[in-house]
Order: sequence, then C-alpha cells, then structure tokens
Amino acid sequence: MNERAIREETAWADAWRPAPDETAYEITELDGEIPRELCGTLYRNGPSQRRLPQQGYAALHFFDGDALVHALRIEDGGVHYTGRFARNQAFLYQEENGPDRQDFYNFRVSDPDPEAPPRVAPNTNIVYHGGKLLALVEADLPFELDPRSLASLGTHRFRDPMLGMSTSAHPKIDGRTGQMLIHGYQPVEPYVQLYTIEPDGSCSLAEAVETPYPVMMHDMAITENYVILLLCPITFDLERGAGFRDWLRWEPEKGLKFGIRPRRAGGQVRWFEAPTPAFIFHSGNAYERDGKIFMDACSYLDGGALLKQLEVYRSGERVTGAGAGANPFLYEFDLSTGDCRETQLDDGVAEFPRIDDRRVGHENRYGYALMGESGFLGPETNRIVKTDRRGGPSVVHECGAFRYPGEPIFVPRTPDAEEDDGFVLVVVYDGRTHRSDLVVLDARAIDKEPLAVAHLEHRVPLGFHGNFVAGI
Ligand SMILES: [Fe+2]
Repeated sequence: MNERAIREETAWADAWRPAPDETAYEITELDGEIPRELCGTLYRNGPSQRRLPQQGYAALHFFDGDALVHALRIEDGGVHYTGRFARNQAFLYQEENGPDRQDFYNFRVSDPDPEAPPRVAPNTNIVYHGGKLLALVEADLPFELDPRSLASLGTHRFRDPMLGMSTSAHPKIDGRTGQMLIHGYQPVEPYVQLYTIEPDGSCSLAEAVETPYPVMMHDMAITENYVILLLCPITFDLERGAGFRDWLRWEPEKGLKFGIRPRRAGGQVRWFEAPTPAFIFHSGNAYERDGKIFMDACSYLDGGALLKQLEVYRSGERVTGAGAGANPFLYEFDLSTGDCRETQLDDGVAEFPRIDDRRVGHENRYGYALMGESGFLGPETNRIVKTDRRGGPSVVHECGAFRYPGEPIFVPRTPDAEEDDGFVLVVVYDGRTHRSDLVVLDARAIDKEPLAVAHLEHRVPLGFHGNFVAGI
C-alpha cells in the first residue's frame, strides 16, 4: 500500500466515527462569501453513538447510533452551528443505564434488561412539514424537535391510532401541493401503510397497502397522481433469528417489484416487475409523461453484498465486487401495457440522490448525488455529480484529497427561480484537519471553486440525510 493509500484509509476511518459532544457556536472562519439569498437552516441527521458498548465502535451496524442532529443557520452571510442529540426514550434509558443493557442491530448484549425500551434512534432524516421539525427513522414513529434549539419535544403521531409501528425516513413532499406522503413498513401485517399529510399537518389519508410479503422498504416515490412502492428482494422475517441482522435476507429470485397505486383514497395497487432484481435504498424522483411513469433510483444489483457491507461497515472492511455499490438506473412504467423497462444510466456508483425539491413528483431535469467508481460509500465517493435528464453532460465537483462529502442539498436562489438556479450545500469532512466544512456551490457551475466555505470548529460525522428550510 503506498503512502497516499495509507493516509486515505486513516482519514476515512474517522469520517463516520461518533462525535459525542453537543455544541453551538457562530462560525468565524469563512472563505469566499455566503450568498445573501441564502437565508434559512440546513438540518442534517446521522448516527453518532454517544456511549460505546463494550464491543466497541467497530462492532456497530451501519444503522446503529444515537441521532445527532445538526442545524446550520445561515443568515446575512453568516453561519451558526447547533448540534444536539434527539432524546427519545431509548436515549434517556441509555444515559441512565449505560449502553450495554439494550441490544444493538449487529449483536445482542450479554446482560439485557428485559424492561429496557428497544434501542431505536431517529437518526436517518430530518424534515420540516406542517410547522413541525421531525427526526425520522424507519423503525420508529417521528420524533419532534424544536426548530431553533433542537430541544427534544417527543414522539409525533400523524393520527391516533397509527396503522403501524413506524413510518419511514423518506416522506415525499409534493413540490406543488405541499402534501407530504409517507409510508410505514413492518414485518407483521399490514406490511405497508400509507399516509397523506396536508400542509397544515392534518392527516387526510391513512390506508394499509396490500403487499405479498414483508421487505425492507426504505424509500418510495410519488408522481402527481401515483405512489410507487419499492418491493425489493431484501425480505424481512422475525422467525429467522433473534436479532436484526438475522431478519433480513437477499432473495433475488423474488425479483424487483414496484407497487403503483393512485394517491387518492382507496386506490388499488398494480404491480410492475423490473427485468433485473435489485435493492433500492433511494429513488431520485418520479413523474408522469405520455401515459408513462419515469423514476430514477440508485440500485444495488447484489443486495447480499450490501447487507454484508452494512454489518461490517464500522470495522472499516470494504465489500467489493460488482453490485456492492449502487448504480443509477431509470425505470419506465407503461401504464397501458403494464411493462417495466430499465436503463442503467452510468457505470459509476451513485448514492444520496437529490433534486430541486420544488419538483418532487413532477418532471425534473437535474439531479445531484454523491458519485464514485465502485463499492458502497467510501473514500472514493468524494465527488458531487450533477446529472441532466435531457442528456446533457454530467458535471462533477471534486471535493479533493481526504475530503468526504455528505448528501448534496439544492437550494433555489429565490422561491420562483428556475430549476438549477441556486446553490448546492454540502457538509464535507476534511480528514487532514479532522474538522468539517459547509461548502456552498453554485448549482450552475458545481465544477468551479465553491462560492463559500464555512469552516466548522469541530467534526460533524458523516451521516445520512437532511434538508434546507428557508426562513428558519
Ligand atoms: Fe435514506
């Protein structure tokens, strides 16, 4: 291994490590100028295990870790940082009793407390809707935080009773109507539930969706009139063992199926099957055109390699081979014939796809994502790519050596600016300084130098998802 490779591995090893401290401060080190049009808060969420178990950090599953929520408030060219843990019941139990009495996803503890709440942390996404800031994880109900202080406010139910045990971390907010559609999934019936939440926070639809077997259903997609459920062949069965990692299994023979149903009440599901089995964590966007539905997604052709990677991720072990990373695919559903066509859009791997949120559910031209050459998220996924659905060339922002970006978030310059007229915000961990930066790119020139870089005083662990909320 050459010197560069050794340093890369060392730098990368710290990128996801927990940062146990909560802090708040004004960022004073700024390069360039933060555009004055940027006024609001970039929220980020990700796992950061506050107290490590006896087994150590390396034993943790990719999904494990307390929810450390970050708020980067941008106003008048300045940036203020706040980071706080979401204090749900499981977190409070751990604060009092230590980390070794509740099971982790990868292993069972030797001295479990039968009275302890299950270890579940809302560490996957953070969404503002209906006047509420919600930290989300697919294994639990939403957890509400104060938008300014990030103080914990408690579990949020869209209605009472809910139809299932949890809701996903990937609601879709219709870019035109402001309605939020969110699904829940679980290994017992009803396997999938669907809710529509109006802009005022009221629940206007709550229905179980009939699905043939339970799967891990991380994400979904919407169009103007339809919901697209992702029935991927990673199945979910509690009879398979005592712990989370035993419950999931890659069963490619079941195929990749999409359940498309009208958004209106009582809509019936129609199933489409893709030519190639794959697991999808994330869709980019979906929309209707000429009697068809188009949906892009990041597809793992080897879900078995992915499951293995999630288990060993924190140890630094990298699972290699074709299909261990996600390739960008376009799926095309013909509503008159029932056919599903697929096109692989690029040989590289892509993850954390985002678009201009004003176009969610409607035709979009541009997308933004992390990109690398192969494998799951790693030191080589250090590029932000902007893709053009109309066939224009992809444009790449290279984050540079030892600099590792999280999910890119597009923010329009003004509420009615054209698509792509705005900024791409990325929190980048710098392995050389062991600190993180907020990087502001011009969306129309992401390959150029950033417009501004705000240097945080500390490290924000790489995490999962977030959103920009204007005006807060
Ligand atoms: Fe996700």
